[in-house]
Amino acid sequence: MAQVSMTVNGKAVSGEVEGRTLLVEFLRTGLGLTGTHVGCDTSQCGACVVHIDGESVKACTVFAAAADGAEITTIEGMANADGTLSVLQQAFQDHHGLQCGFCTPGMVMSAADLLKTNPSPTEHEIRDWLEGNICRCTGYHNIVKAIQAAAATMSGQAQAAE
Ligand code: FES
Ligand code: FES
Repeated sequence: MAQVSMTVNGKAVSGEVEGRTLLVEFLRTGLGLTGTHVGCDTSQCGACVVHIDGESVKACTVFAAAADGAEITTIEGMANADGTLSVLQQAFQDHHGLQCGFCTPGMVMSAADLLKTNPSPTEHEIRDWLEGNICRCTGYHNIVKAIQAAAATMSGQAQAAE
């Protein structure tokens, strides 16, 4: 067993893990952050995407011990400070970007990373970026629309702040 410490959603946490414990397991079972889902465990579905040091990563591909000292953000850390939905989360709701919702946390985490590096992605760029996120329900159409809408809102907010 090894002791790991990391910052999760702005809070310092620590725990005992086995060498084989995956980060997604530590988040869900160790910390009770069950918003990060496990859809495959074989690195295909993207339901487990979190941010590690600001970049979207499939949490089933990382050992918890390897994330020692890292800054992690999960879907539970994506809402605004007052508990309201972030622009991106609200856009998923407004544009019906989810049905069963199982893939949604991973979609939101991946899309947030995309919008950070590419604030105005084309439809093609969004679809390309989501290649590693599988949704069985929506056909992606409304997910793409939600991300485009979030990008438009965020760029309007950025312009208003200038
Ligand atoms: S559970 Fe990680 S990619 Fe499916
Ligand atoms: S909303 Fe059901 S898998 Fe995406």
